[in-house]
This record gives sequence, C-alpha cells and structure tokens, in this order.
Amino acid sequence: MAPKLETAFRGHSRPRWLVTGGVIILLFFAYSTFQATSLKHISFRPQFSPSWSFETQRDERNLGLSDSQCDVAFPGLYAELERARDYHALNGGINISQIAIWTDEPGITHAQTRVLLYNGNMHVVGDKRGYARRERVGAALSNLQRAISAIPDARSLPNIEFTIDTLDDPNPRRNERRPGRTVWSWDRHVSDEETWVMPDFGGWSYLGGSIAGGVMGYNSFRDGVEELEADLAAKGRRQGGDAWEAKVEKALWRGTVALGNSDAPRTRQDLVKAAEGKSWSDVQAGNFVKQVEHCRWQYLIHTEGFAWGGRLRYLMNCNSSIIIPWPLHFVAHFYPLLQSEGSEQNFIPVKSDWSDLDQTMEAYLSDADSARAIASRSAALFHDRYLTQAAEACYLRRMIKLYAEVQNFEPKLWKEAELDEGMLARTPRGYDWEYFSYREPCNGPPDPNVNASKVDFEE
Ligand SMILES: *[C@@H]1O[C@H](CO)[C@@H](O)[C@H](O)[C@H]1NC(C)=O
Ligand SMILES: *[C@@H]1O[C@H](CO)[C@@H](O)[C@H](O)[C@H]1NC(C)=O
Ligand SMILES: *[C@@H]1O[C@H](CO)[C@@H](O)[C@H](O)[C@H]1NC(C)=O
Repeated sequence: MAPKLETAFRGHSRPRWLVTGGVIILLFFAYSTFQATSLKHISFRPQFSPSWSFETQRDERNLGLSDSQCDVAFPGLYAELERARDYHALNGGINISQIAIWTDEPGITHAQTRVLLYNGNMHVVGDKRGYARRERVGAALSNLQRAISAIPDARSLPNIEFTIDTLDDPNPRRNERRPGRTVWSWDRHVSDEETWVMPDFGGWSYLGGSIAGGVMGYNSFRDGVEELEADLAAKGRRQGGDAWEAKVEKALWRGTVALGNSDAPRTRQDLVKAAEGKSWSDVQAGNFVKQVEHCRWQYLIHTEGFAWGGRLRYLMNCNSSIIIPWPLHFVAHFYPLLQSEGSEQNFIPVKSDWSDLDQTMEAYLSDADSARAIASRSAALFHDRYLTQAAEACYLRRMIKLYAEVQNFEPKLWKEAELDEGMLARTPRGYDWEYFSYREPCNGPPDPNVNASKVDFEE
C-alpha cells in the first residue's frame, strides 16, 4: 500500500519539488512516513505479513495472534502437542469412550471436568469433584476461554470434546493406569503417552500457597520480575557491570521436604544433604523466599513435586541460571524447549541424585561467563518469548486443532430431554461456561449456618 501512495504523492509534488527543493524533500519524507504508519492501522489485509516478528514489549499480552503469527513467534512451542497427536494417530484416534470421566479410582479421587467446545462456545458437560483443589478447574477453563475469545471468530475453531483431570499426575503408573484413558492435564509422566499436556494453572494464577509464595495472577508476577530485574540491572551498572553482578553468587532452593506420598521427599532430602555446608549453597527447607525475589540469586535449583514442579515456569522467568536434576520424570508443555547442552544450552543439568551438584557449582563459579550466558539465553527464550501469555494462548488454540485431527467422533451439543408432560425436547448438554463458572458447587455447598455478620474480606 505504501509504495502506491508515494507514487500518487510524487505525481502532485513534482512541479513544486523543482521550486522549493529541500523543504519539500523533508516534507515528503515526513508525509510518506506518516502515511505508511497510519495506514498500517487501518489496513484491510490480514494482520500477518512476512515481515512481522514477535516483539516482547508490544506482543507479550496479545492473546489473539493469528495462526501464522503463532508459528513465526513460537516455532518450537508445539512439539509436545504434535507428539500427542502423532501418538493417537498411530493408535487409531481417540474414541468417545476414552474421554469418559474416570470413577472408582484406587488411589485418591481425581477432580475431572468434561468440556465441549462447540461453535466457538465453551460448555461444561460433566464434572466430578475431588483432588486437586477446585480452583484449578477455574484456572484451566478461564485460560482456555480467553484464548478462544481473543481471536476474531472463535467459531473458526473445530468442535471438540475432552476431559480435564486436575490432579498432579492424571494417569498414575503404579497399579492405577487405565490404558486408553485420554485426558488434558498440566503434565504427564514420561511413560504416559495418552495424556495431552496443557499449560499449567500457574499461567493463570498460582493456586494454594499463594501467600507464602507471593504469586497470584501470572501477569502481576511477571510485572514484579521485570521491576526487580530492572532494579538489579541498574544496581549492576552502578558497580560497572550488569544485573548478573548484582545477584547473589549462590544457588537458591526453598521448599517443603515432606510431600506425602511421592518420590519428592527423598529427592528433596537428598538435595538438602548435598548442599549442606557448601559455600555456594542457599538451600533450606522452609524459610520461604517470595517467588519474585528468587530472581535476586544467580543460580536457582528446580525440584519436581508430587509430579511436575510448578515452580519451573516461575524460575524460568528470571534472568538467572536454572539448575535442573536431569532428566525430569514429568513433562510440562514447554519442556521440549529445554536444552541441556550445546550452543543453545539454556539450563544447567545435574544428576537426579545430586551427586555432581557440588562439582557442577564449583565449575560454574569459576566460569561465570558460561553461567551468565546460560541465564541470558534462558531469559530471552522463556521470559521474553515462550512463557508469555501470548505464547500460551497460541498453544491452547493449537491444542484444540491438533486434538480435533485425531478425534474419532463428532461432538454433540444437543440431547433429548423429557419435559413435564413426558414430551421429548431438544436441549443443549451441560452448561455454558458463562453460567457454570459461578454455579454451585464451587468449593462446597453453601453453609446454612453462615455467620450473617462476618465479611469474608473487604479491603
Ligand atoms: C476405537 O474404536 C474402534 C472402532 O470401534 C476400535 O477398533 C479401536 O480399537 C478403538 N480404539 C481404542 C484406543 O479404544
Ligand atoms: C540478562 O542479563 C544479562 C546481563 O547478565 C543481559 O545482558 C541480558 O540482556 C538479560 N537478558 C534478558 C532477556 O533480559
Ligand atoms: C459473627 O461474626 C462477627 C464478626 O466477625 C463476630 O463478632 C461474632 O462473634 C460472630 N458470631 C458468631 C456466632 O460466631
């Protein structure tokens, strides 16, 4: 568009060009630049052009990037989804029986919510209360709702039906696995190939422990990180360096060691032991450090929990070097991007039993440039790009599309219901999300003995 306008403008300006020379040259450039800029905003062309590229400041909160923009911005984002799609394609696709809500769990009761996306609307068509906390359903579905409502027309997405399992490990190994069961979850054990991994609820809000960890909304968390990193960079510059120099030259870990029925206590206890008395160690069980404040340390140690460790997405937002016991046992949506070696290395791997932790820390402390480079690459990849809200919205929409490719059934919106007089009528299944989201039960039934004078909170 811009070149055409310039030609038209030149046609008018040429005679005057001869007379007023330099002044017109200046005006011409000012005018054509102005035209080009203002035209961009009223263009009727699709948003995407081959020259478009992702700019963190401008685009990180753009939840409605087009498909091609999602590809250009986040080429490495969809590997875990493609794995699930390919696995199910090889196994004959997903039958409707595979998404049924799971009952009679031998272990603890899994909270599960069955969801229908139909004609761009989100419906809840099944629900079972259980573990983990109920808010996780709200987080998953709110995140999904904003990802589908941010594009120009959500009706362009395929109709799909699936079940979300909110427990940490949706398809436990031991004696509980049911082959074929297919759910959407925050993570999957590396041996669980059926599960579809969605961004964990931390991309919406951290749920549980919010006060100690200091994380609530993900946007606010990232704002806090940016403010702190900017402060550290300013402090570093005053000392003639950069943010890295202003950070504590130690490895930080804080957490709960007693995590009940999981492998975590042993791993965490072993970490505390491996770090004991070491000059580089700031490892403690308890004595919480707020999640944002973690960015003040040069090295941050990750641990898994009952299943995946929700902390990794937070640690990866810091411009610090993240130490990960490698390989991990569980996969979250962005893990295929983790690089343990080579020119793109973006974290520091150590053995799962921590036996080389001391040696690894000593090596990096005497080669700070390598550690700093790893931190910079990880911040550029994860904070600036793949862990933005824009990326997570792209991921969720791609998830809908790839899931649809292997869905063997055509989801149905309507069911027949009996009216009062025994007549049958067509009625939509379940509830629209807009209604479900405030429908009881939320955390439990309303309490008839509630104290009429007690305000829950008002500040
Ligand atoms: C899905 O259904 C088809 C047709 O009934 C069957 O052949 C196939 O084994 C089923 N797949 C799974 C994973 O249950
Ligand atoms: C990370 O910090 C380094 C200084 O150690 C700085 O050069 C780099 O730009 C920072 N990266 C990001 C993505 O903020
Ligand atoms: C009800 O709440 C008010 C305000 O917190 C409190 O003063 C009062 O003692 C409570 N009444 C009962 C019966 O618990």
